[in-house]
Amino acid sequence: MADDVQQIKERLDITDVVSDYVDLKQAGQYLKGKSPFTDEQDPSFYVSPEKGLYHCFSSGQGGDVFTFIQEMEGVAFREALSLLADRAGVTLSGDDGSTGKRKRLLEIVAEAQEFYADKLKDSSSAQEYLQKRGITEKTAERFSLGYAPDSWQAMLNYLRESGFKTADIITAGLAKQSDSSSDPYDRFRNRLLFPIADTTGRPVAFSGRRLDPDDPAKYINSPETPLFRKKEVLYGFHLAKSAMRDLDAAVLVEGQTDIVLAHQVGFENTVASSGTSITKSHLDLIGRFTDNLILALDTDTAGRRAALKTARLALTEDMTPKIAKLPAGSDPADVVVAGGKEKLQQAIADAEHAITTAVRWTKEGSNDRRDFLGRLQEQVLPLVVSIENAITRDHFIGEIAQQSDIREKTLRSELDLNQGGRSLRQPQKRDSLQDADRLTRRERQENIESELMAIKKWQAQKDDPEISVDELSEKIAAIQDLKIRDRTPEVDEQDAFAAEVSYADLKPEELERSIEELLLHFREVVLQQAYEAAQAQLAQTDDTKTKQSLLRKCQEISNQIESVRADIREHV
Ligand code: CTP
Ligand code: MN
Repeated sequence: MADDVQQIKERLDITDVVSDYVDLKQAGQYLKGKSPFTDEQDPSFYVSPEKGLYHCFSSGQGGDVFTFIQEMEGVAFREALSLLADRAGVTLSGDDGSTGKRKRLLEIVAEAQEFYADKLKDSSSAQEYLQKRGITEKTAERFSLGYAPDSWQAMLNYLRESGFKTADIITAGLAKQSDSSSDPYDRFRNRLLFPIADTTGRPVAFSGRRLDPDDPAKYINSPETPLFRKKEVLYGFHLAKSAMRDLDAAVLVEGQTDIVLAHQVGFENTVASSGTSITKSHLDLIGRFTDNLILALDTDTAGRRAALKTARLALTEDMTPKIAKLPAGSDPADVVVAGGKEKLQQAIADAEHAITTAVRWTKEGSNDRRDFLGRLQEQVLPLVVSIENAITRDHFIGEIAQQSDIREKTLRSELDLNQGGRSLRQPQKRDSLQDADRLTRRERQENIESELMAIKKWQAQKDDPEISVDELSEKIAAIQDLKIRDRTPEVDEQDAFAAEVSYADLKPEELERSIEELLLHFREVVLQQAYEAAQAQLAQTDDTKTKQSLLRKCQEISNQIESVRADIREHV
C-alpha cells in the first residue's frame, strides 16, 4: 500500500486535484486561494506543487492529496485512496479477490443505472408520474433517476449481454433466484428507480417506487449486498456534501421524494434516511461536514417518535438537533407541492431545538398537568440526559423549567434519578478549570517549540539557508535543557511547509528577528513552568533546608523570567 500511495503521489499533481475545488493563483513558488474549509475573505490556503502539500492558515489544517480528498469528500482514507487511484490510473496492489469482485459489482450497478436512466426517457408512464409529482427533468438527471421496465428479465438479459455473470447480478441485488423455474428474474419491475450512491457518488443500490397503484409494495429496495449496508448509507449524501459544509447545517428527511424535491427548490444540504432508523454511522457521515442537524421527518406519530429518537442520538454525538416546523400530517414533499419553495423555507427557518420542540409537543398532547408531567419525564428528560456538554445541559434545564413551570431544583433531582448516579448539579468542577489553565500553558510551550523546530527543519532542507541552522539548533537545545518535561514535539514535512509559507516572504534579518522573538517566548514559558514546579515542590516539603534551597531556586528563576520579559519588551 505504501507503494500505491507513493505511485499515486508521483502521478497526480496536487494542483490539479485541489483546483477542482479551489480557484488557485500563482504566488511565488506556491499557489494560493481561498480556503475551501472556511468562508474566509482573504486567501490563506497555500499549495506547494513541488512538495505535494497544502496548508490552510484559517483552519490550521494541512496535508497531502489524500487528506485533502478525505476532508473535501468526507471520506475515509481507504475511499480517498481508491478515488485517487482511479484518477491516477493506478491499480491498487492490495487488490485481492474481494476488491476484484467489488469492482465487478460496482460495474454492474453502474451499468444498470445507465440502462434504467435510458428507459426513463422512453417510458411515458414514468414521465407522467414525474410530472404528477412535480419532479423536473433536470432534477431527474441530477439524481440519475431511472425506470425499470415492466418485464421479468429485461435488466438481466441486458447485463448478461454486456458480459456479466448471472451470479454476480444476483449478488449485486438486481435479480432474484426464482423458486419454481431455474432462471432468475429482475428484482425491479415497472418502478421509478432512485439509485443509492456511496459517499463518493458511485451507485451501489436502488430504491424502486411503484407506479401501479395496485402494486402491493409501495417501495422495493435492493437487499443488503457487499456494496450496500443500509445502516451506513444515507440517500443523497454525495449530492449534499458541499452544501452541508457551506451552510454548516444538514436537513434530514425520510423519503426519496422529499429529498428530491427539497434539492429541486434549493435545499441542497438535504439527505434522506430512506425510512430506516438513523444510526450512529449515519450521523457520523453528516458529522464530517456539520454538527447542525435539522430534522424534517414526516409529521405523523411515527415520524415524531423517529425525530425524538434521532435527536437523542444526535445529542449524545454532541450535535445540535433542531426540528423543522412542518404542518401536521405532511412531509417535505407535500409542503413543496402545496406551498412551494417558500413554505419549506419557512418550515426550516422556524426549526426549533429538539428539546424545545419536545416540550411543546408534550404540552400539546397532554390532557392535564399530571399527564403532562408524566410525558415530560418519559419523552423530554431522556433527551436532556443525553446532552454531554454540562453548560448546554444546564441551559436546557433552565428552559424546561420555564416552559413547564417546574422548579429547576425538582427537575435536577428528577434528572439525577434518571441518570443513575451522574450528578447534574455541578456544571463544571473547579479542578478541571485549573487543569485547563495549566494545559494551555503547556500547549503554548509546545506551539512555540514546534514553530521553532519547523523553521529549523525548513531551513535545514534548503541548499542556501538564510540563517545558521546549527546556531538555531544550539539555541533551541539550550532552552530545552531547562524544560521540566523533556518531551520534544515532533515536526514533519507539513509543519516545515507551513513555516516556509509563513516566513518565506521575510528578509533574512526579519526572519532572524522573528526567530529571536520566538526564542525569547519559548524561554519565558519554559521558565514559567519551572517556577511553578519549584513552587509545587516547596508546598510539599517540611524540611527547612530543602525549603531554603527551593526558595532560592524560585527567586533565581523569577529573576530570569524578569530579564526575559525585559528582553521581550525591548524586542517589540
Ligand atoms: N420506504 C420503504 N419501504 C416501504 C415504505 C417506505 O423503503 N414499504 C422508505 C422509502 O425510502 C420512502 C421512505 O421510506 O421514501 C418514506 O416512506 P413514505 O413516507 O411512505 O414514502 P414517501 O417518500 O412519502 O412516498 P411517496 O411520496 O412516494 O408517496
Ligand atoms: Mn413521506
